[in-house]
Parts: sequence; structure tokens; C-alpha cells
Amino acid sequence: MNFLRRVFRTREPADLADAGRAGGLRRVLGPIDLVALGIGGIIGAGIFALVGTAAAGDATRPGAGPAIMLSFLVTGLCCGFCGLCYAEFASSVPVSGSAYTYAYATLGEVLAWIIGWDLILEYAVGNVAVAVSWSGYFCELLRSFGLEFPRWLATDLRTALASPEILAQAPHVLGVPIVFNLPAVFIVAGLSALLYIGIRESARFNLGMVAVKLLVLGVFVAVGAAYVNPANWTPFAPNGFAGIQAGAAVIFFAFIGFDAVSTTAEECRNPRRDLPIGILGSLAICTVVYVVVAAVLTGVVPWHKLNTAEPLSVAMRGLALPGIAAFVAFGSIVAHTAVLLVFQLGQPRILYAMSRDGLLPPFFSKVHPRFRTPHTATIATGLFVAVGAALASLEEMADLCNIGTLSAFAVVCLGVLIDRLRRPGRVRPFRTPLFPVVPVLGLLSCLFLMLGLPQSAWIRFAVWLVLGLGLYAAYGFRRSRLQSKGQAGVGAP
Ligand code: ALA
Repeated sequence: MNFLRRVFRTREPADLADAGRAGGLRRVLGPIDLVALGIGGIIGAGIFALVGTAAAGDATRPGAGPAIMLSFLVTGLCCGFCGLCYAEFASSVPVSGSAYTYAYATLGEVLAWIIGWDLILEYAVGNVAVAVSWSGYFCELLRSFGLEFPRWLATDLRTALASPEILAQAPHVLGVPIVFNLPAVFIVAGLSALLYIGIRESARFNLGMVAVKLLVLGVFVAVGAAYVNPANWTPFAPNGFAGIQAGAAVIFFAFIGFDAVSTTAEECRNPRRDLPIGILGSLAICTVVYVVVAAVLTGVVPWHKLNTAEPLSVAMRGLALPGIAAFVAFGSIVAHTAVLLVFQLGQPRILYAMSRDGLLPPFFSKVHPRFRTPHTATIATGLFVAVGAALASLEEMADLCNIGTLSAFAVVCLGVLIDRLRRPGRVRPFRTPLFPVVPVLGLLSCLFLMLGLPQSAWIRFAVWLVLGLGLYAAYGFRRSRLQSKGQAGVGAP
């Protein structure tokens, strides 16, 4: 009984707010920065790369066809339910740590730990996937200038081991071939250095990249619209509901990122008002952009020809517009960079919050005396992502990222349900409408999408959870700040 009380202890909102006030991060972000951070985190590999597979399908799944527009709407709606729940929590518990902190305030310490652990899958592992994809586009852009990057220096381990050609090109040290993804390591290191220096600089850099990627997508739509052939939209849903559903699951990755806004709670000037604006504003803008881009894309290229890693550039090349195609490829690199920046910004702030709560060693909650950033957590994240990106493959990491993110989203929806029932009097500057319909639909959407993920993702996820629980038992359970305060919490059974 005592054991259960301890692992399900919750943090008091006042205690969380005190921790947030004492944190020492620099409060400089306003609503425009937050909407931009959301867009920065959302628009990336999903719309520039995965949309092709989602529309055309591949050996493992049916394509949505032109109905990919509907897939975007369906996933946008699912994320909208979750975004509303995030916004409610972000306005009432405006503390760094995102879903981890919300779970700590409502569901208890062990679930908070699990969510914090899962958020590593979303941010750090997701960033491994985006860095690998970034490297692919970077090499592609070099190729368009006639430059060929050595393949042994831009590959994942699995691809290299399966390719005698790459192994033959690679230098050997003591008989061991040296193969890794140098551009992916390079971009992660550069962005980590930027984030070390300051949140204001990072937000400004992000603002510029968001402007570029919206401009590139705007040009794509404006130019492409003139070439749309409505005959390409028929049949609208060649693989029926199954195609639309499979498409929705693939492009879930394209929506991940709006929640990263909530990790900057302690760097916002007015978090209670601005966090909901940042989360919901960025999600709404991106959903509209995605549907319009998908409409033009499937209008200019027959849907079954879209199974390529660069569908937007391919569409422009198909229209004999090589200049626009190169511009789109450049925009894709910028978009990937912004996603990397926002995720690389989110992860340290979650580690920071967990460390401050005693669940991770104090090393992770150090704040730089001059830059006032969580610099040690920023370096640790940079190292983890760089090593992963040097060796891992895109698909494995994207699946793991999806399952970790969906589990965190599901807990946030569950948390809103429990919190409203348990603490009806809590101040909530933003409340999800139609309670309890919205959180229940959010929870069901997440479970539905999770069940659509492959078995390999579930196995990796289970291993990750067991590892995390082992760490909690060995460290956090004993070192938790609540333990030293002797606070059992309202959630204890
Ligand atoms: N939403 C992000 C992307 O599409 C992860 O790259």
C-alpha cells in the first residue's frame, strides 16, 4: 500500500508553479514566437517526403490517392482533440516539461516518469529520423550542383552492411569499415550549439526558417494551381477507407511538433494566454496548408506516380520547371532544419524538468549562468541524437517516434479527464470545449492510430518501457523531490 502511495504520488499545482518561477530561464517569447515555433516543429519531413508514400502507397500499405486530402483532415482532427487538451494543461500548469509535468500533476509519479521517458522517443528519437532525412535532402541538393557526397559518409549502418558497394568504398581501420552519416551529425551539432547560446537567438532563427518554408509551399501552390488537371482527382479514393486510414497513419508524423510549444512554458512572457494560441494556432495553420498542398500535388501528378522521397520537387520537375523544383528542395532542407531545431529545443527542457523533480540526476537541470539555457541537458541531447543519427535508419526511428508520441498524447487526454473530475476548482484560463467529448475522442484517436503501427514498433516500445521502469526503480523512485519532502500527494490510493 505504501509502495503504491509512493509511485502514484502527484505534484501539487502550487508546488509546480513555484518550481517554474524559480527556474531561472529567460522569459522572452510572445504569441508570434510560439505560433512560429509550432509551425517550425510541424512542417518538415511529413509534407516534403512522407506525403508521397501516403498518397501512392507502397508494398506494405494501400495509397490514399487524391483522398490524401481527407487523410490530412482526419489526422488534423485527431491532433486537434489532443491539441485542445494540451492547451488546457499548458494554460493551467505553465511549467517546462509538457506532458510529463501534466501527468505528474494528475496521474502520479510513475506515469509521469513513463511519459517523460516516452517523450525521449518523440523528441530525441524523432530528431534522429529527421536528421537522417535532412542528410538525404542535403546530398540530393549537392547532386543537383554536380557534387557527389561519398556514400560511406552519408549512410545508416543497416544500409551500409547490406551494400557490398558502400563497404568496398569505405576506409577500414583494423579491418573494420568506417561508415556513418556525417551530414546528419553536422546539422545536429550546429543546432545544439545555437540552442546552447540562447532561446531568443533560436526563436529568431526559427522565425526566419518558418517564413522560408511557408514561402516555398506558397510558391508551390501558386505555380502548381495553374497546372492542375481535375481528371487527376478521379477516382478520388482509389483504395477506399483503407487507403484513407493508412494515409492518415503515415502522415501523423507530419503533425507531430505542435506540442513542443508547451515545453517553452517557462520562457514565455504570458504562458497562460499564449501557449494555447501557439499550440492551436500552429496546428490550424498547418492543417490548412497541408490540405491545400495535397490538393495541388494530386492535381498535377497522377497519385500512383507519387511514391518518391521528394514528391513536391518531382511534381515541379514533371511540369518542366527545374528552377522551382530546386527551390522546393532547398525549402525542404530549411523545413527539416526548423523541425530539428524545435525538437532539439524541446528535449532538454523535459530532461531539465525531470531532473529538477529529482527523477534524473542534477546534471540535467543546470542553467548556464550567462545564456540562461539548460546547457548541460542541451549537450546531452545533442550527443544522443548525433550518435543515433550517425548510425540509425529513418523508418525504424520514425515508427518508434510515432508510438512514443501517441502514448504521450493519450496520457494528456486521460489527464484532462481525471484532472477535471478530481480538481473541478482549479483555475483553467483555457478549457477544452465539449468536455468530456473532446478528451475521450482524443484518447480514442491515439489508441486507434497506435493500433495501426507495426508489431516491430510495439516490441521496441515495450523494451524501451521496461528499460525506463528499471531506471525509475533504481534512481527516481528514491531520489524524487516528493520523497525528500515526504509529500504523498492527492493521487495516492
Ligand atoms: N512534423 C515533423 C515533420 O514532419 C516531425 O518533420
